[in-house]
Amino acid sequence: MKLYLDTANLEAIVKYKALIDGVTSNPAIMGMERALQEPRLKAICDTVPTLPVSGEVVYANSLEQICEDARKMASVAPNIIIKIPGNIHGMKAIRILKREGYKLNVTGLMTFKQLALAAQQGADYVSQFFCRAKDAGLDSVREINKAKEFILQNGLKSQIIIGSLRTIADVETALLTRGDILT
Ligand code: E4P
Repeated sequence: MKLYLDTANLEAIVKYKALIDGVTSNPAIMGMERALQEPRLKAICDTVPTLPVSGEVVYANSLEQICEDARKMASVAPNIIIKIPGNIHGMKAIRILKREGYKLNVTGLMTFKQLALAAQQGADYVSQFFCRAKDAGLDSVREINKAKEFILQNGLKSQIIIGSLRTIADVETALLTRGDILT
């Protein structure tokens, strides 16, 4: 299990960079830091140039907007991973953006079927929202473990990121799933 930091706080990234394998962020996290997304993503990528850094597209409700935003974000740094929503528009964007050579993290996924579809379309990372899924009455551990089984059975390369972790108990539970990364 790898550990990523889900933050846009540069001090935290500097403090923990010896312990982590990557960084994830989203527009809400940028807002918490009162940071503009593009320059802050560049600063994070420069701080951890050998680690994958996920930055999320802002527009989620059109395939064209997602692709356009993704292409712009890709120029930030070589270690940027473009996070796109796991809705119907994002699912359709995966093949298009993969053909163009981008690294993708498909986010906001809850169920096995959502994780499986994003993985099957070619996403590099599929992000399961552990506590949001729990809030919706799902057994996140079961959804993650089934998705991992599907990925292995089909020889897919997607890594499962487990996000939306709120308590230490959630982290302990998530650490013992078949997910690949905790953030
Ligand atoms: C992960 O990549 C997400 O940024 C994050 O974990 C979302 O979690 P939330 O449910 O706290 O918004």
